[in-house]
Amino acid sequence: MNRIPGPRSIAGWRWNMFRFFRNPFAFQRWLYETYGTLSALGQGDKPSTVFAFGPEMNRQILTNPDFFEVSTALVKVPKDTRMGELFYNNLVLMSGEKHRRHRRLMQPAFQQDQIRQYGRDMATITGRLADEWEGRTEIDLNVEMKKLTQRIAVKTLFGVQDEEGMDRMGSLIDRMTRSLLLVTLAPVDIPFTPYHRALRIAEKLHARIRSMIHDKRRDPDETDVLAALIRAHDEDDATLTDEELIGHTFSLYVAGHETTANALTWALFLLVQHPDTYASVMEELNAVLSGSPPTLEQLSELPLLDGVVKESLRLLPPAGIGTRVTAAPCELDGYFLPERTNVFFSQLITHRLPELYEEPDRFKPRRWETIKPSAFEYLPFSAGPHMCIGWHFAMQELKIVLAVLLQRYRFSVVRDARISPNLMMRPVRGMPMRIGRHDGRFERVTVRGSIHQMIEF
Ligand code: HEM
Repeated sequence: MNRIPGPRSIAGWRWNMFRFFRNPFAFQRWLYETYGTLSALGQGDKPSTVFAFGPEMNRQILTNPDFFEVSTALVKVPKDTRMGELFYNNLVLMSGEKHRRHRRLMQPAFQQDQIRQYGRDMATITGRLADEWEGRTEIDLNVEMKKLTQRIAVKTLFGVQDEEGMDRMGSLIDRMTRSLLLVTLAPVDIPFTPYHRALRIAEKLHARIRSMIHDKRRDPDETDVLAALIRAHDEDDATLTDEELIGHTFSLYVAGHETTANALTWALFLLVQHPDTYASVMEELNAVLSGSPPTLEQLSELPLLDGVVKESLRLLPPAGIGTRVTAAPCELDGYFLPERTNVFFSQLITHRLPELYEEPDRFKPRRWETIKPSAFEYLPFSAGPHMCIGWHFAMQELKIVLAVLLQRYRFSVVRDARISPNLMMRPVRGMPMRIGRHDGRFERVTVRGSIHQMIEF
């Protein structure tokens, strides 16, 4: 079989991976335009990393879990510790029958009618954050959105009531996950090392979630996600064990809050940088909501807001690239892939194919009134068996938060700010925003940074 095309520089795989991490979007677009749907990095005939682009590649990779499995090499936390228990009991790292069973057990907690119950919490917590901004003229929107999605996650997942309790729990988890790289590099348990600190935090968290489980078992009326998971039974009446419950709720928190914070940050950025759309969205909100937070019924009466959310997830998806590893030798796009080849699929490139999206680099939320892409043409939440279990939750949260904040403040990006998203769509230098009263003015300001490579304003 033919050799997969791709750059095979003298410096090899490392140099190309460096180029990829330095500018993931430009590198992938260059790969696609130069080599087509499939390209390989590496030296010699054995490809170590393959990039696969477009809906057909997405379909083949995401619907054949027997050949393309989720790589477990991403997390390297010692297994036989409290930290290991937190990190390894989760859907992402499960496969086959075990994954199917756990997903089935968890599904009821994420069905639309269950998630509807969280709508009021989402609006109230957002309103309180907006109160905290009173008197301020400038915020780092990304920092604030992280604070917000963290509070919403802690409240809806664990039922923690007060803001202080939400922040405490959230920051505990964040302190542990932030040190993950150092933990992986040096897992030695001696005082004052990052690993030692992370282990102690993991023990605290573990004990905290376990005691919540204990309390919720006695109170069957609680409505949070953890309570719903405790109630879950499969057809053989099996339930999730305490260890599994702890791991799942922890991973839901980790998987859900930063992605949603970044999605909110970009949706607001793109909206305020497109003054005509911004004005139309405000008209829509005023007509339907007249200043109140949206009820769930009203969310479906806001088609332009829906288009804004979908369009920003298309252009700047918080999970812009996904990865799988070949579980067995297989064929892809007519080429042979050996076992244990890393395969990247790219939401970022798929979402910008001109044959699927007219003027693909432009922010045009009204396109969603007429287009209906397939699951493999539009996949901000991925597709196939590992598709995001929290996608209804996230879509509801994104729309409620935007509706509440847009009605409270007029936003504008700080002039000449440097706006540059990284691989995970975090704006690496933050997102400085001016906030103030509504005055009927909508204008785009000049900004700098790599955002100009990604969006045609
Ligand atoms: C805008 C926000 C979000 C985005 C863009 C997003 C994106 C994704 C993507 C792309 C995947 C699949 C990865 C793959 O195929 O390898 C995924 C999986 C997952 N997400 Fe989300 N997510 C978001 C919010 C959430 C929320 C709010 C939750 C929970 C409350 C959540 C929980 C999960 C879980 C548990 C998985 C693993 C599913 C499995 O392996 O079966 N996500 N997410």
